[in-house]
Amino acid sequence: MENSVIVVSINSRLAALGFLALEVLATEDPRNVSGNYAILDQQLAMRWVKREIEHFGGDPNRVFLLGQSSGGTNIMAHLIAPESVPLFAGAISLSGSPNITMNKADKYEQDRKYWLDNTPCKDTEPAAEQLACMRKLSVAEVMQAMDTTCKTDIEPNDKNPFPSEIACTGDGGRYNLWNQDSQVPVDPSLGQMGFGLPFIDGHTLDGGSNSSILTGLKKTFSNASAPAVIFQTLSAEHNWPPSNAFTKASYEDNGARGLLDKQLGVCMRDGDDLKRPCCQSCTGSPGNAVDNQFGTESVLLSDFLDTVFNLTENDTENRADDPHWKLYPAYALTADAGATCGNVELALAAASGGNVGKIFVSTVVTPPSNPVFAGSCFIRSTMPFHSWDFLAALQASNPDGADKPWRAGKMDNPHGYAVSCGEEDDETPAKQPYQPSTRDVEFGKQVLGQWLAFIKTGKPGWDAVGSSDWSDYQHGKITDKPAMTVPSYKQPACDNLKKAGVDINWWWVN
Ligand SMILES: *[C@@H]1O[C@H](CO)[C@@H](O)[C@H](O)[C@H]1NC(C)=O
Ligand SMILES: *[C@@H]1O[C@H](CO)[C@@H](O)[C@H](O)[C@H]1NC(C)=O
Ligand SMILES: *[C@@H]1O[C@H](CO)[C@@H](O)[C@H](O)[C@H]1NC(C)=O
Ligand SMILES: *[C@@H]1O[C@H](CO)[C@@H](O)[C@H](O)[C@H]1NC(C)=O
Ligand SMILES: *[C@@H]1O[C@H](CO)[C@@H](O)[C@H](O)[C@H]1NC(C)=O
Ligand SMILES: *[C@@H]1O[C@H](CO)[C@@H](O)[C@H](O)[C@H]1NC(C)=O
Repeated sequence: MENSVIVVSINSRLAALGFLALEVLATEDPRNVSGNYAILDQQLAMRWVKREIEHFGGDPNRVFLLGQSSGGTNIMAHLIAPESVPLFAGAISLSGSPNITMNKADKYEQDRKYWLDNTPCKDTEPAAEQLACMRKLSVAEVMQAMDTTCKTDIEPNDKNPFPSEIACTGDGGRYNLWNQDSQVPVDPSLGQMGFGLPFIDGHTLDGGSNSSILTGLKKTFSNASAPAVIFQTLSAEHNWPPSNAFTKASYEDNGARGLLDKQLGVCMRDGDDLKRPCCQSCTGSPGNAVDNQFGTESVLLSDFLDTVFNLTENDTENRADDPHWKLYPAYALTADAGATCGNVELALAAASGGNVGKIFVSTVVTPPSNPVFAGSCFIRSTMPFHSWDFLAALQASNPDGADKPWRAGKMDNPHGYAVSCGEEDDETPAKQPYQPSTRDVEFGKQVLGQWLAFIKTGKPGWDAVGSSDWSDYQHGKITDKPAMTVPSYKQPACDNLKKAGVDINWWWVN
């Protein structure tokens, strides 16, 4: 068959079971570090695939990884995991979190504070007794001990160990430390959210000379045998639940301007005068007591907004009839700040290792034709939202036909889990399968075709990152048409964000 690939899907431990790291656990671990168990689980599966896939007609030298969201983040981890790298020829990371930055000391300290201290084993001594105490905990107790900033009244149990994933989507819900839900980077003080993430332990994940994912990637990609990789994000990642910034109320009460104001502090105070420099002239003006989050950096707000609105203008269709579309610039801003610019930095760091022909960056700009309730009926996604590329590509592989309605259901549905929730009533939404338009189908086929081309030829349809120079990189713009290479596509937006101080601290965690 022209498009024949073998898909192997795997499971690994999640949350505390997959990522808990404590010094006391390290003492008995042959690696002399603890944590990153999910990565070890995945390595086990990858080793099995490498060894056995030829018995299924597969090629052990053409194994590709595909992961979306946390799966995409795990792929980033595998790119700096010395034991993983020889096991795959390429990887497609969709909407991963570039923020794999926690070091061992911080991770041990945080997990002690946010997990161990919530267990009855907190003060047990000596270490052997403490380990024995921890081993007696049930799965539910292990999960319950995870401190979540979002408290939920649904208690985890063995049948439903992750209830807060649902409960944390509403107003007042903040963010669950362990479930890796998406996070809108509106507030850097939310930064301590890396608990459910892989961390740089110096063994399973090797951060290279600076013990950072950037130097780790440089190291991996300085080897001519390094895998090929695509880093893909969407232009409005956060237009997806759960999201604590873009609630229904914030659509209505704040709108785009309110949100931008929150993000840019004083710089947005005089919204109508966009041409004045920010933030110098606004400091000290009446009504500007709000802390200037970006210090005294002089960023031209006009440039900043032009970038966002310019991209908006050319990236989307005219959706003037949809009131949510006025928020697109805000979503574009947070998607760039949280996901796209960070993914670009990873790609550039990898390219600085020398394997420039193998590293690809892309952004999806095609929205769904109709509102999609992806996974919950909390937010109606109308923009290129987190997981839209993945859903559409899976649908394109539906053996019943790519144009068939997307079945209702959730993650257990192999052909997409999007549902339509009927009209405006989000309280008791009528769940209906999503009927893809012709354009949606074309979009899904394009994305799937890019993956298959990449697996077969190492080239997805747009140009590889050209060099480690900011101004030179090549970016794939993904729509329902063949991919377009746009040189420096995200450079103005990312440069402006950087100038405004929005850097690694704003990279999202998912
Ligand atoms: C194990 O790690 C600790 C620090 O976490 C270090 O002090 C010790 O020397 C290491 N032991 C070995 C055998 O590498
Ligand atoms: C380069 O990668 C290959 C294949 O993964 C590995 O066998 C080799 O040891 C690596 N070379 C270096 C210098 O790390
Ligand atoms: C990203 O990583 C940096 C460095 O570890 C950290 O300070 C920051 O809080 C992280 N960002 C988020 C959103 O967690
Ligand atoms: C690595 O660390 C050195 C010294 O702190 C610093 O100058 C350099 O910029 C870092 N490199 C990266 C890629 O972070
Ligand atoms: C935005 O577009 C206008 C013209 O449409 C152009 O003059 C301006 O330089 C652009 N701004 C940025 C930051 O790209
Ligand atoms: C949008 O695209 C059109 C057609 O390619 C181009 O002429 C125009 O300058 C672009 N606008 C901006 C603001 O970049």
